[in-house]
Amino acid sequence: MSKKIAVIGVGPSGITALKNLLDLGLNAIAFDRNQDVGGNWIFSENESHSSVFDTTHIISSKTLSQYADFTFDDFDPQTADYPSHDELRRYFQAYAHKFHLYQHIRFNTLVIHCERVNDQEWVVTTETDGIQKTESFTDLVVCNGHHWNPRWPQYPGDYTGEFVHSHSFKKADPFKDKRVLVIGGGNSACDVAVETSRVSKMTAISWRRGYRIIPKFFFGQPSDKIGEKSSWIPLKIRSFFFDLLLKVMVGDNKLYGLRPVENKFGEIHPTINDELLYKIRHGKVKPRMDINRLSGKKVIFEDGLEEEYDAIIACTGYYLSHPFFDQDLIDYSKGPVPLYLKMFHPEYKNLYFIGMFQPLGCIWPGAELQAKIMARELAGLWQRPENIKELCELEIKKPHYKQINTPRHTITVDFHKFKRDLLKHLPKDYISKHPKIQKVEI
Ligand SMILES: Cc1cc2nc3c(=O)[nH]c(=O)nc-3n(C[C@H](O)[C@H](O)[C@H](O)COP(=O)(O)OP(=O)(O)OC[C@H]3O[C@@H](n4cnc5c(N)ncnc54)[C@H](O)[C@@H]3O)c2cc1C
Ligand SMILES: NC(=O)c1ccc[n+]([C@@H]2O[C@H](COP(=O)([O-])OP(=O)(O)OC[C@H]3O[C@@H](n4cnc5c(N)ncnc54)[C@H](OP(=O)(O)O)[C@@H]3O)[C@@H](O)[C@H]2O)c1
Repeated sequence: MSKKIAVIGVGPSGITALKNLLDLGLNAIAFDRNQDVGGNWIFSENESHSSVFDTTHIISSKTLSQYADFTFDDFDPQTADYPSHDELRRYFQAYAHKFHLYQHIRFNTLVIHCERVNDQEWVVTTETDGIQKTESFTDLVVCNGHHWNPRWPQYPGDYTGEFVHSHSFKKADPFKDKRVLVIGGGNSACDVAVETSRVSKMTAISWRRGYRIIPKFFFGQPSDKIGEKSSWIPLKIRSFFFDLLLKVMVGDNKLYGLRPVENKFGEIHPTINDELLYKIRHGKVKPRMDINRLSGKKVIFEDGLEEEYDAIIACTGYYLSHPFFDQDLIDYSKGPVPLYLKMFHPEYKNLYFIGMFQPLGCIWPGAELQAKIMARELAGLWQRPENIKELCELEIKKPHYKQINTPRHTITVDFHKFKRDLLKHLPKDYISKHPKIQKVEI
């Protein structure tokens, strides 16, 4: 039976899925609710799929954040170490142009339902300009992203100020002259606190635990490049030396009035930020404890401190969300996520997830390798192991990092180890830099 493959989403993961399917001569079509390629990296001042804001720059450096098939040197050798969201959007769109992907994408098309009939068929319902359409596909490739459906915190009491999530934070201006409280210790929270502190009357950041704040540079080099040089060292030893380096270069959190770090490196997703500690020491961002309750505009913290805030920005992360599946078919929103290589379902052979992992590093280089394995399987060049159920369970039992049990820690991988695991399934000449399909003039 000939294949007809549907790809959901053309963000950084979806474009590499599509490219690699087409490279092997497979019949694939991608759907995206947006008007163009880029996913999260299409900044918009209005509420949209994207969660980036006007000043967002990537946190992994460019040489560790590129596709093997289309590097930043292939795109623009002048690209900065840490490109902005707009440079990344242009990079992803250039990838899609180079490999003639546009003719295989239906934009402005929301996938609303996917029903699995059997191992050879999915019935996919889409909506374009209010018109619904149902089509059958043999295989389904899910690349809908996992940083767009906000996870809100709950507190006792009522709050009468403005309460927003970082997903809708687009720029700092609306917070000018306001008293702002940012919640969270992840990359969004630290970026947002730094940005609002430039214009606000006062910005504070509330942490429910201690986080390592890793600078973007060590010894004049991107810090992930330093990490890469030691990636051959076993994780435990690597983590020990990285912590030591951090202690020497940055110092303890208590020097900044922040909650102390109480977990080992890797047990919590790392936060990369060069400005937060500087802002704290310049009195622009005030460290605060976890929130106990809210009352009017008042926030009561767990140490008893009470302060009034005009706005609270919850940077409390996102749900893994697949609204187009019936919940009894797929629901990973509460974890665990038992998928082999974070992509193969233990039972459904015609379902793939690409880019649904959280690396300590960048997502799309790993997504590219996943896409190549998937395409090889669909083209009959690779076979999945027979004991896939066991392997799925093993990934849950023996994760790369034993992380603390909070909702964001269900799909973490070590960037280098994950790449090595994926590369084992690919031939040595896996890189393919030239378009394999012809551009069709439409
Ligand atoms: C502020 C911020 C900064 C980040 N910085 C980094 C970073 O430095 N490095 C890094 O690796 N990651 C970073 N991320 C994570 C980010 O998720 C990835 O960079 C990347 O965007 C993942 O690509 P993706 O294609 O998997 O998902 P997305 O980029 O989210 O793309 C998903 C696509 O699917 C489409 N889609 C979704 N649902 C449907 C549907 N039902 N029907 C049709 N289309 C649909 C969307 O329109 C979108 O185009 C950041 C995230 C945020 C929020
Ligand atoms: N510049 C950039 O490139 C950039 C910027 C922003 C985001 N990102 C990326 O985008 C993704 C999402 O990042 P994110 O920071 O938005 O989300 P995140 O990584 O999930 O972090 C959420 C933070 O909120 C905390 N939190 C969650 N629920 C809470 C609650 N009820 N009360 C108090 N604190 C709570 C979490 O605490 P726990 O530690 O306890 O879980 C964590 O500190 C990540 O991959 C991140 O690296 C990148």
